[in-house]
Amino acid sequence: MFISFEGIEGAGKSTAMALLAEALRLRGHDVVETREPGGCSLGRLLRPILLDARTDGLSSRAELFLFLADRAQHVHSQIRPALEAGNIVLCDRFTDSTIVYQGAGRGLDPDALRRINLLATGGLTPDLTFLLDLPVALGLERAGIRNRREGTVISEGRFDSESLNFHERIRQGYLALAAEEPQRIAIIDAQQPADDILLQCLSATEEALRGRAE
Ligand code: TYD
Repeated sequence: MFISFEGIEGAGKSTAMALLAEALRLRGHDVVETREPGGCSLGRLLRPILLDARTDGLSSRAELFLFLADRAQHVHSQIRPALEAGNIVLCDRFTDSTIVYQGAGRGLDPDALRRINLLATGGLTPDLTFLLDLPVALGLERAGIRNRREGTVISEGRFDSESLNFHERIRQGYLALAAEEPQRIAIIDAQQPADDILLQCLSATEEALRGRAE
């Protein structure tokens, strides 16, 4: 079972994913947690290039291919082997991030992005995706607070410092994707308490696991 977490900056994906991983392990599942960009050794080299505000003048297409290089290697070296070994794989961001950030955000053609995503993943798509949704202003405020606390403003600035309008397009892009694929993408209200978010993610995961067992 392959599950991705998506959402705008500050939506709380990482927290939700960590809580779900813990809850699934307590129920006896083997769980692998990973993320993009940076879930494999190539991605760890690419991550600072992609996220650092000091990466100057990167074109939208070059940016796209760096994310895709990370994804292709990540699927090959981490995700597929973990799935084949019977793990539940939880991934913080995956193909939908490319559709909305490089599509709705940067203006690249979403159909071309879908095709190239499939090329990068060899056809692997998440069984389930949790879209943590909240108003952009709130997400950016949360992200700002988190970044300041962790002192990572400089290293993760390229997307965080985009305009409010950019982030609004990202949010709307995600909601449009969820409307297109309601059977895969579950919208989770990210303003709820963490316990409620966990309960929703857990029950959707258990339902999907039961569906597979039948
Ligand atoms: P990350 O540190 O994972 O941010 P967050 O905590 O918000 O998830 O940074 C990843 C950034 O890269 C995020 O702003 C979204 C962007 N991104 C893309 O533009 N395209 C992609 O395909 C992926 C995976 C991420």
